[in-house]
Amino acid sequence: MSGSMNMHRFKPNENVKDYRSALGRFATGITVVTTVGPNGPIAITVNSFASVSLSPPLILWSPNKSSKRHDTFVRAENFVVHVLAADQREICEAFARSAFAFDKTPTHPNENGIPIISGCLAVFECRKFAAFDAGDHTILLGEVENASHRPGEALVYANGAYQQMPAA
Ligand SMILES: Cc1cc2nc3c(=O)[nH]c(=O)nc-3n(C[C@H](O)[C@H](O)[C@H](O)COP(=O)(O)O)c2cc1C
Repeated sequence: MSGSMNMHRFKPNENVKDYRSALGRFATGITVVTTVGPNGPIAITVNSFASVSLSPPLILWSPNKSSKRHDTFVRAENFVVHVLAADQREICEAFARSAFAFDKTPTHPNENGIPIISGCLAVFECRKFAAFDAGDHTILLGEVENASHRPGEALVYANGAYQQMPAA
């Protein structure tokens, strides 16, 4: 077993590289969040997703203030969070590069006109519940109005690399 002598302790604001590496030790799923803005549908690849409350059903994710997409998502009344399957890495990378990469994947609009991406493991259709200023990010809380899921392997991100998880 590895002991504390292998641990490297540091101040996050003095060593941003190590701080990023430490955060990367926390394995996450990957989601794509969609909404509709003044220029039509947009999406963003996000691993800051977390479940918050079961009753009422609340989830959160955090757009970076430095993102061109930040203001559109913070202003949106509705957004949809998609949990990506292991075979959706291309979609993950496409929406990390561009907000408008909808040619990469089939979608259909929900009642609010927000694109639902086909083939995801789980979908959370949200109404904006609250937004909190948080350093260089904004925390967006969504109340989940509709959810769906299917069995399958998840796309997982840890230590800056994509991994696969066993099927549910
Ligand atoms: C695995 C992964 C997770 C990400 N998580 C977030 C996130 O939680 N919040 C965020 O604002 N951007 C996140 N990004 C970055 C965005 O997907 C996107 O690359 C960024 O918004 C690009 O900047 P732009 O919006 O100015 O084009 C993530 C990217 C990857 C590849």
